[in-house]
Amino acid sequence: MMPTLEENVSLRPYNTFGLDVQARYFARFASADELRQLLQLPEVQAAERLILGGGSNLLLTQDFDGVVLRNEIRGLEILSEDGDDHTALVRAGAGESWHGLVEYSLDQGLSGIENLSLIPGTVGAAPLQNIGAYGAELRDTFDHLEAVAMATGAGRVFTAPECGFGYRESVFKHKLKGQFVVTAVVLRLHRQARPSGYAPNVRYGAIAETLAEMGVAGEPTPHEVSRAVVHIRRSKLPDPAEIGNAGSFFKNPELSQAAFDRLKAQYPNLPGYPVPGGVKVPAGWLIEQAGWKGLRRGPGTGTHGVHDRQALVLVNHGGATGQELRALAEDIIAAVRQQFAVELHPEVNIL
Ligand code: FAD
Ligand code: EPU
Repeated sequence: MMPTLEENVSLRPYNTFGLDVQARYFARFASADELRQLLQLPEVQAAERLILGGGSNLLLTQDFDGVVLRNEIRGLEILSEDGDDHTALVRAGAGESWHGLVEYSLDQGLSGIENLSLIPGTVGAAPLQNIGAYGAELRDTFDHLEAVAMATGAGRVFTAPECGFGYRESVFKHKLKGQFVVTAVVLRLHRQARPSGYAPNVRYGAIAETLAEMGVAGEPTPHEVSRAVVHIRRSKLPDPAEIGNAGSFFKNPELSQAAFDRLKAQYPNLPGYPVPGGVKVPAGWLIEQAGWKGLRRGPGTGTHGVHDRQALVLVNHGGATGQELRALAEDIIAAVRQQFAVELHPEVNIL
C-alpha cells in the first residue's frame, strides 16, 4: 500500500522532550519498499528530510519545513545459529523498539545486549551514535546493518568497520550524515548455555552493587544483569513519559592526561576513567560542581532546567520551547568552559 503524506503535523507525540513543533509533511513507512515509494514522491525529493525513530535523541528548536519520515519497520528473527562458537545472528527491523529487542533476545536465551536494557528509541537509530551504557556498546555485538540510500533508493549493507563506530559516534553522523536510512540491524549474540564461554559483563561498579542488593550471589544470569540495569536507570534517569528529556544532553569530554592532571590538582575529587589517548571525565560532575544541578528556569516553578538527580540530563517540566532548552545548554557550556576550561559537546541532535 502506498504510504500517505500528511501535511502540517505536530511532532509533539514523536519526541521525548515533548516539544510542539510542526512538520510541513509527515509519513510513516513499514518496509524498505514503502520507504522507496516515499523517496520517489516529488514533495519528498524536493524537501529536506528527517528520519525519525522514537525521537529520544532530538531537540527540535523550530518548525521543520521538510518531510519527516517515521520508521515503523517491524520484525525480529533469528537468522542462523553457529554451534561452534555458540552464537546466533539476530535480525531486527529498524522500527522495533531497542528495549523490545533486548527482551526478545533474553527470551530466546541469547545474551550480549542486557547491559543496554531500557535505552529508549528504535533499533535503527542505535548505530547512529553506537548506543552505550553500563560497560557495553552496540558495537560489541554488532554484525552488520541494512540501509537504503536516500538519493537512489538502492540497498546497501554496512559491516562494523564500515560504520566507523566510536564513543557516541559513527560514520552516519559525519561523512554519510543524512545519506542512508537504516532499515535493519543484525547482531551476533551469545547462547547463554555453557560452554559458550560467555560471561555476563559486570565491570560497571553500580551493577555489582545492585546485584548484591538484589541478593544475587555468584555469577548473575543475563536476566539478572538486565534487571539490575533497569533498576539503576529508573533510580536516576527521568522517565520521558513523566518529564520531557532526551537522556544525556552532552557527551562526556575526553581530556589529555596532562589536562586531566592539571584539573585534578585543582579539583582533587574530579572523577576520571582512562580511555585510549587520555581520560574521560563525567560531564555530570562538571555541571553539578558548576552549580547547575536541579536548576529551574521559566515562569512559576519553572518550565525547564537541569534534572535534580542527574546533572547531564536537561528536562522540559512542561511548556518549554526547544529554543529555551538550547539557550540553557549554551549557558551550561559557557559556565563549564569558564570554570574548568573544558569544552562540552551536545550528544543530542539539535534541529
Ligand atoms: P531519534 O531521536 O528518532 O533519532 C536520532 C537521530 O538518528 C536523528 O538524527 C535521526 O534522524 C537519526 N535516525 C533515527 N533513525 C534512523 C534510521 N533508521 N536511519 C537513519 N537515521 C536515523 N543513549 C545511549 O547511547 N545510552 C543511554 O544510556 C541512553 N539513555 C537514554 C535515556 C533516556 C531517558 C533518553 C530519553 C534517551 C537516552 N539515550 C541513550 C539516547 C537515545 O535513547 C538513543 O540515542 C537512541 O538510539 C535514539 O533512538 P531514537 O529512535 O529515539 O532516535
Ligand atoms: N555525576 C555527578 N553528578 C551528576 C551526575 C553524574 O557527579 O549529577 C558523576 C558521578 O561521579 C558519577 C559519574 O558522573 O559516578 C557517572 O554518572 P553516571 O553513571 O550516571 O553516568 P554518566 O557518565 O552521567 C553515561 C552515559 C549514559 C549512560 C550512563 C551509564 C554519556 C554521555 N552518558 O552517563 O548515557 O546511561 O553513562 O553507562 O556517555 C545517554 O547517552 O543518553 C545516556 C543516558
